Amino acid sequence: MKLKHWISLGAVVLLSGCGVADEPEQVADPDQGRQLYSKNCASCHGRMMNGTDQGPPLNHKVYEPGHHGNSAFYRAVKEGTRAHHWQFGDMPPQPQVTPADVAHIIAYVRARQQKSGIR
Ligand code: HEC
Repeated sequence: MKLKHWISLGAVVLLSGCGVADEPEQVADPDQGRQLYSKNCASCHGRMMNGTDQGPPLNHKVYEPGHHGNSAFYRAVKEGTRAHHWQFGDMPPQPQVTPADVAHIIAYVRARQQKSGIR
């Protein structure tokens, strides 16, 4: 890992210590995120985040951090979302997925997006 990455990782660890009300204090773990994603999101968003006939790909420019920030993930899981970007219909709320779970899932999604050059 390059030094730059270690520095930004350090910043994430420091920031997450602040305990923002809605977001869990635990450090997000992409490996845990992968398992949670497979269990709760892959049936619609695709095993490889490339979408299915039930939902759009999350590894897509539409979902880059600047367009759909992390709060969009917390909101979609908690409240569901109305079809507005695609023709798949609405996303139903996922009450079995906790905010702490979402933090792990986001870490996994962002890691995969970065590998695809989406940032
Ligand atoms: C039953 C199918 C289904 C499941 C399960 C599902 N989604 Fe979705 N999701 C959708 C659809 C359909 C959309 C697209 C709505 C649209 O047209 O913009 C969507 C959109 C989203 C969006 C974009 C929200 C926005 O603000 O535009 C996010 C983020 C998201 N899903 C995350 C997740 C995560 C994380 C999980 C797993 C915890 C998950 N979804 C599980 C169907 C699903």
